[in-house]
Amino acid sequence: MIKVITYGTYDLLHYGHIKLLERAKALGDYLIVGVTADDFDRTRGKINVQQSLMERVEAVRQTGIADEIIVEEYEGQKIDDIKKYGADIFTVGSDWKGHFDYLNEFCKVVYLDRTQGISSSELRAAKNELRLGIIGESPIIKKFIRESEFVNGVKIVGICSSNKSCESEVAEKVSLITDDYDLLLDSVDAVYVVSHPSRHYSDIRTSLLKEKHVLCESPISLSMEETKELYSLAHKKGLILIDAVKTAYSTAYSRMILLAKGGKIGEIVSVDSTCTSLRNVDYSNTDQLGKVWNSITSWGPTALLPVFQLLGVENKFMRIITRMGNKIHSYDEFTKITLEYQGSVASVKVGKGVKSEGELIISGTKGYIYVPAPWWKTEYFEIRYENESENKRYFYQLDGEGIRNEIVSFLRLIEHKGASIISESLSIAISQVMEDFYNGNNVVNLVSGKDN
Ligand code: CTP
Repeated sequence: MIKVITYGTYDLLHYGHIKLLERAKALGDYLIVGVTADDFDRTRGKINVQQSLMERVEAVRQTGIADEIIVEEYEGQKIDDIKKYGADIFTVGSDWKGHFDYLNEFCKVVYLDRTQGISSSELRAAKNELRLGIIGESPIIKKFIRESEFVNGVKIVGICSSNKSCESEVAEKVSLITDDYDLLLDSVDAVYVVSHPSRHYSDIRTSLLKEKHVLCESPISLSMEETKELYSLAHKKGLILIDAVKTAYSTAYSRMILLAKGGKIGEIVSVDSTCTSLRNVDYSNTDQLGKVWNSITSWGPTALLPVFQLLGVENKFMRIITRMGNKIHSYDEFTKITLEYQGSVASVKVGKGVKSEGELIISGTKGYIYVPAPWWKTEYFEIRYENESENKRYFYQLDGEGIRNEIVSFLRLIEHKGASIISESLSIAISQVMEDFYNGNNVVNLVSGKDN
């Protein structure tokens, strides 16, 4: 009996897939089909697969062509499968020509002609492409546009920015460059807000009033009440409003949070996170209030993320210790926040004028989790115990620093609603910290040495 094996994602099963499966089966007597698991597929840059693994397996099963269906979960599995199932022929479409020649060592490799004129990518793109606009100045815009190209079903159509150098760098990628926010909003279904945080409230509000979904670089606003108001407006209009904190969407970070919540280190007693960067401060990049992107608004949301995700948003007491730079009022070179909870504590250090080790440590009653610098874009973390032989290391590939997954999450929420990774209460808690900072609630200024 000749055994044939083939692999694919089989998203939105189409006749190109069926023809491939029929011809694969005709190469032998028994056909094994490997369906690629979501996570594994992401590592190949195939993102925004629309159907779950179960749905895709079921679709392949219903063709009645496969004699056996397996799930492909890891890099290098093909060799293991060929040996395990005794496959005589490995086959895939001609789009992979040459790519799998190394398998010739284990079985015969056959590339079948791909059916012209159809692919899952085209079906996904045609389904409902979301037209996205960008408002703001942050340098992250370039990265965001680049990353959006890996996601099916989204197109960046325009940008409204006062940062001319940023606009010119992305000019050939977007069709609309304008100073008129209303004009941008008229041309899109959703916006990505990366303006100065003091402008978020009005930028988001304008967008929601025009019935556009919003993805906003955290914080949503600098006041708890304003953030609540924006959420209630979004609910009333049936629109999606979510924080963009790319770390929240990265695979290693989200697995780490699950493991910590799952009790791997016992009860969590302390979360200590540090995020700093030493770059020239762009004092020209100010808003009408003369504020620059200070440490607390640039790094605060990311540094607070694991604290609120692991210990909750109901802290008993919060103290903010800050060192103001001299040039501009409200520019904190360095800020340390301590949050006290019932039975646990957190400390967060952020700085744009001070450099430190950007690590994350989560201490528990059985062990601790160590995420090395820069933890906010990590591919790796360790769970460490008193007995070193029990230590475990975890690696996950980081695609686009989490931005790709962030865009996919935003698209999925718009399509199917459901719960977002960064909850509304977490987003409100972040705004509360910003508000306390600006209002001087429990804030100590290191330079003046006085409580504000
Ligand atoms: N295939 C084919 N003809 C097509 C599309 C796919 O023969 N028009 C083959 C691929 O070469 C592969 C298998 O079907 O062997 C599974 O392909 P998959 O990657 O799941 O489908 P695509 O439509 O190519 O998906 P995408 O557009 O996301 O790359």
